[in-house]
Amino acid sequence: MKDWKSLYEECMSCQKCPLWETRHNVVFGEGPQNAEVMFIGEGPGEQEDLSGRPFVGRGGKFLDEMLAMIDLDRSKVFIGNMVKCRPPANRDPLPAEQEACIGYLRNQVALIRPKIIVCLGRIAAMKLIRPDFKITRDHGQWTKKAGVEMMAIFHPAALLRDPRKRPETYADLKSLQAKIQEVCDHTY
Ligand code: URA
Repeated sequence: MKDWKSLYEECMSCQKCPLWETRHNVVFGEGPQNAEVMFIGEGPGEQEDLSGRPFVGRGGKFLDEMLAMIDLDRSKVFIGNMVKCRPPANRDPLPAEQEACIGYLRNQVALIRPKIIVCLGRIAAMKLIRPDFKITRDHGQWTKKAGVEMMAIFHPAALLRDPRKRPETYADLKSLQAKIQEVCDHTY
C-alpha cells in the first residue's frame, strides 16, 4: 500500500491503460483524507477531464443538490471514480480499464478507511458490491463488506435523464442520512 502522496504521484503519471492517451487530466478524486463517507462514480466526463476535479459538470451540480437534501456538504465527503481518466465520448469504462485502475481506488479506500461507500450508478456497484448488481432492483440496499457499509444509488446523470427515478433516490438518500447518524462520528 502506498501513502497518499506517492499514490497521487503514481496516478498522475499513470499509463496502465490506453485512456492516458486521450486524457487532459487525471481525476484523482477529492475530499478529506479521513472522510467517513465516500461516493464513487463511473469515470470523468468532459468537464472533469478538463478541470481535473470529479463531478463538476451538470451531473456534479445535481449531485451537490442531492447531498444538500440530506444536509451533506461535498467538502465533508470524498468523491472519486472507478476510472480516473475520461473514457472517450463518455462511453462506459471497459472491464480492462476498470481492472487497470481499481488498485488506485482500493489504495484510496485503505488509506481513508471510510465507514460508508455509496456507489453512484451501476458500473461502480457491479465492481464494488457484486458483479450481478442490478441498479433498478438493488439500489438503496445496504451490504456490509470488510466492515464498510455499502449501497448504490442511481447515477446523477441517470436522474437528470429520467426524473421519474428521483423519488426512489430521495428515499435512498434518507436511508443514507440515517446510516450516517448510526455509524459515523463526525458532525455533518
Ligand atoms: N460522472 C461520473 O461518473 N464521474 C464524474 O466525475 C463525473 C460524471
